Amino acid sequence: MKTPTMRLDRLLANLGYGSRREVGYMVAGGLVVLDGKRLKDPAQRLSLDADLPARMNVGAAPIDPPPPLTLLMHKPLGVVCSHREPGRSIYELLPERWRRRDPVLSTIGRLDAETSGLLLITDDGALLHRVISPRSHVKKRYLATLARPLTGQEAAVFAAGDLILEGDTDPLAPAVLEPLSPTTAWLTITEGRYHQVRRMFAAVGNHVEALHRDRIGGLDLPDELAPGDYRIARAPELAGIFLATQ
Ligand code: URA
Repeated sequence: MKTPTMRLDRLLANLGYGSRREVGYMVAGGLVVLDGKRLKDPAQRLSLDADLPARMNVGAAPIDPPPPLTLLMHKPLGVVCSHREPGRSIYELLPERWRRRDPVLSTIGRLDAETSGLLLITDDGALLHRVISPRSHVKKRYLATLARPLTGQEAAVFAAGDLILEGDTDPLAPAVLEPLSPTTAWLTITEGRYHQVRRMFAAVGNHVEALHRDRIGGLDLPDELAPGDYRIARAPELAGIFLATQ
């Protein structure tokens, strides 16, 4: 496949460095360097090779990774996943410039403000749709800490595939509960309905006190990511999302 090309000013504007006019000033000021040489023409077309970020600098720093960009984040408690909700958002944990990228970075599904764990953030629309599509059956595993001890009935109720949550009209797909202690359990679901895990436990008379997602498909939250940390996903990790687990 032929490597796509893009005008220099458009590339940097799309990466959030400024308007095309502002990028033009940066080029004129000698701030944009490729393979050790200052670029002079903002209209120059660049081949979007995978090694471009390693060869190109703006000021002293390598340019940000061009699309497609997917991040793995350890979402901390107390931040929301949407620009529109009130409160501090996960986007505020990213470099300011990344909030001006085109295509935009969006979360793949959402976690509640009070849920922590693995969150994928991407500008790759095809990947996003593939992960959230019900046809992909991507499993999401949550560690739930409960207010009351499990009764022993929950696993069968969740596995049955006929549980209808309050306010819903269609039943949930079967889900797998694996108790760890009287008040903690893994719950693996394939859907992503609003507050799904909390509502499932409410439906069996319990209450979720803490919720953490540690796995999406075959991809685990990397151990090295502390709450609030993120890093660029590697290709095998993205492939791992679609590998069957359990
Ligand atoms: N289920 C919930 O209740 N909350 C989440 O954040 C994710 C799944």
